[in-house]
Amino acid sequence: MIVVIGAGAVGLGIAWRASQRGLPVTLVDPEPGGGASHVAAGMLTPVGELQYGEEQQLRLGIDSRDRYPEFAAELAERTGVDIGYRKEGNLSVAYDGDDLAFLTDQHRFQESLGLRTELLTGRECRRLEPMLAPSVRGGILAPDDGSVDPRRLVRALLAACEDVEIVRRKVREIVVEGGAVRGVRLEDGGVLAADRVVVAAGSWSADLADLPVRPVKGQILRLHSPYPFLTRATRGLVRGFSLYLVPRPDGELVVGATQEELGFDSRVTAGGLWELLRDARALFPGVTELEFKEVNASFRPGSPDNSPLLGPAGPDGLIAATGHYRNGILLTPLTADAIADLLEGKEPPEAIRPFGADRFAPTGGSR
Ligand code: GLY
Repeated sequence: MIVVIGAGAVGLGIAWRASQRGLPVTLVDPEPGGGASHVAAGMLTPVGELQYGEEQQLRLGIDSRDRYPEFAAELAERTGVDIGYRKEGNLSVAYDGDDLAFLTDQHRFQESLGLRTELLTGRECRRLEPMLAPSVRGGILAPDDGSVDPRRLVRALLAACEDVEIVRRKVREIVVEGGAVRGVRLEDGGVLAADRVVVAAGSWSADLADLPVRPVKGQILRLHSPYPFLTRATRGLVRGFSLYLVPRPDGELVVGATQEELGFDSRVTAGGLWELLRDARALFPGVTELEFKEVNASFRPGSPDNSPLLGPAGPDGLIAATGHYRNGILLTPLTADAIADLLEGKEPPEAIRPFGADRFAPTGGSR
């Protein structure tokens, strides 16, 4: 028996893929789909969000992003749920001259890696997104990036998990005996026996297994536009601060996100919202006329290098699928396939090799 702890997009994806291969899976989560996946914006932007020194993460992100068309089509066929996958490209825009200098440098870096991106003038950016402020200085278009609706994604995955037993309880601890996992103990003391346990509990993974994961708080808000406001996921740099806006066909406009190292502090703060709205208005003055719908805070699971922890993690039978940081939704298709491969005893995709869960252990590491 296999127990997957955590029914966010990653845990659900793993459970679905493993059950498709005929493996017996139980998924344990007090509130399936209710964690960070419910709050996430759904940017699929490995190119648009590329940072120096993250070439391996880039390969991982592109591999997973490029699995999305098939992943979405398969889920739609199986469940009838459209997960809102869109490949409209990602636009990054600069508010002032310093922001433009940063983006110009980023464009050089993207080109040096052979990535398909285009440096645009302010006018060209406005031609793509007419609601942009006249003052926007320029930007970069990454045409192969896209977005997905994480709430629909989770709904589809839950529907697809018809052969998975779902236990709506909290896991108190992972039971280990003789160096091997034996199952999980639930909050009521009951034990679910298992010879393999996958920890996909996001920021809460560190409490359950000896994994170096910390919560990185993000506050995010949802507006509604009665008319087409934005065509594609757009990242903005405003006096050095970054934010993003993700549109949905039904008029929802997601504006995110703060990035705060505050432990498990889930408060929504006036300052967090003010920063997001201030910078959103600088780029899109019309944003203040939109209807305010919702605000949330949740936690990205960050590892010491902010890259995922994937694979065997200590005792025999324990497998990590966590630490996805800002990229849980992006990395769901690849993580699901890779962990299902491991559970089936197959070689997982090459792209996950640098991200072994043991790489921070004092004696080990696959890097
Ligand atoms: N993926 C965007 C974020 O974590 O805010």
